[in-house]
Formats: sequence, structure tokens, C-alpha cells
Amino acid sequence: MKSESSNAGDVARFFATWIRHPLKLGAVAPSSPAYCREMVERATTDIDGPVLELGPGLGVVTRALLDKGVSPGRITSIEYEKSFADVLKGRFPEVNVVEGDGFDLDRTLGTTPRRRFAAILFAIPILNLSQEQRQALFTRYFDHLLPGGNLTQLSYLPTAPVKPVPGVFTVTSSPIVWSNIPPARVWVYAQDQAAASGSRAP
Ligand SMILES: C[S@@+](CC[C@H](N)C(=O)[O-])C[C@H]1O[C@@H](n2cnc3c(N)ncnc32)[C@H](O)[C@@H]1O
Repeated sequence: MKSESSNAGDVARFFATWIRHPLKLGAVAPSSPAYCREMVERATTDIDGPVLELGPGLGVVTRALLDKGVSPGRITSIEYEKSFADVLKGRFPEVNVVEGDGFDLDRTLGTTPRRRFAAILFAIPILNLSQEQRQALFTRYFDHLLPGGNLTQLSYLPTAPVKPVPGVFTVTSSPIVWSNIPPARVWVYAQDQAAASGSRAP
């Protein structure tokens, strides 16, 4: 359990980084514990396989994954901001923390073999991308999921940030988590029935 003071320290560090890179951070403060629990509850971590976290920041969702009992050796966390990645490596030495670009998994993780995950927990800001670019990005992520695996997204938007792509993924959401600042939902992208029944190449 983190102390109040280290939590305040993280808020200050997060805010200071947001001032320098507002578009990359997307939020002024880390997500609330209740919000992180909601995200982790909805992620398909019960499927046997590794778990991918994109945009972990200072590790609030990583912590919630560990609290749920996901073993650290299953988790890969990709963070773009070097100072955050360094903090994560110190905080979670058994988690595979990768400093890199979570938009390009093939470049960041390599392609031989292509890694497939039980769940992807996504927190990278995408407001600067067009709807078509967002759908193309999430379609690529679905090539990195094991059968039945889902992608959960942190977002403050009132409607789905990424519209469903027929044959690839559907979209639902959690209720609003009011304790988060600002209040937010977890958006859940699940494999479309057609994809799940094997019409897409493995
Ligand atoms: C909204 S914050 C979320 C942090 C944390 N998951 C939380 O819920 O509090 C977005 C995070 O995504 C990271 N980020 C931005 N662009 C990225 C990219 N292309 N690849 C990986 N991480 C990125 C930022 O540095 C930041 O840590």
C-alpha cells in the first residue's frame, strides 16, 4: 500500500510532466485507485497468457493488476516518457518495463515471434488521431490478442473514443467512475463474434 506522501509526490511529478508534455500525458493527474480497479476488473486477465499495459505513467494500473493477483512476470508495460519508465523499473523490478512507443508494437516488441496477450490495458492519449486512425490502431492491437482477449481503455470522453470495427471488435463501457478526476469510464473492446469464431487469420 502506498503512503499518502508518496501518492502526493506522484501527483506532483505527474503534473510537472504534464506541463511539459500536455498532449502526451492527456491527464493532469494519475487515475484514481477505484478507476484502476474498474479497468483491471474488466480486463481479460483470467486468460492464460501475458498482459500488456500501454501508457502506464507512474504505475497506478500496474499496481492494481498486481493487487488483483496478476503475477509481475506476466506484465509488460510500455511507457514513452523516460523519467516515468525509470520510476516504474525501480518500483516494479519484476515487471517487464519497456521504454518505447506503445503505438508501434512490432517495432517496440519485435516481430519474431509476434507476441500475443491475454489482455491489453490502454491509457495512451489518442485525441489527436482521426477516427480512422484510431480504428486502424485498435485493429492492429487485436492482432496481438489471444482468442477471447480484450482491450480496455481509460477515457474521459462521454462516447466511445474508438467506434467498433465490424468483424474485428465491439465496444461497451463501464458506468462512470465518479471518484476519478475528471470522472471517467472504462471502454471495453471485445473481439467481434466473427473474429472470435475464427474468420480472421490467427
Ligand atoms: C493519461 S496518462 C495515464 C497514466 C496511468 N496509466 C494512469 O492511469 O494514471 C498517459 C500515459 O501514456 C504515456 N504515453 C504517451 N504516449 C505514449 C506512447 N506513444 N507510448 C507509450 N506511452 C505513451 C504518457 O507518458 C503517460 O504516462
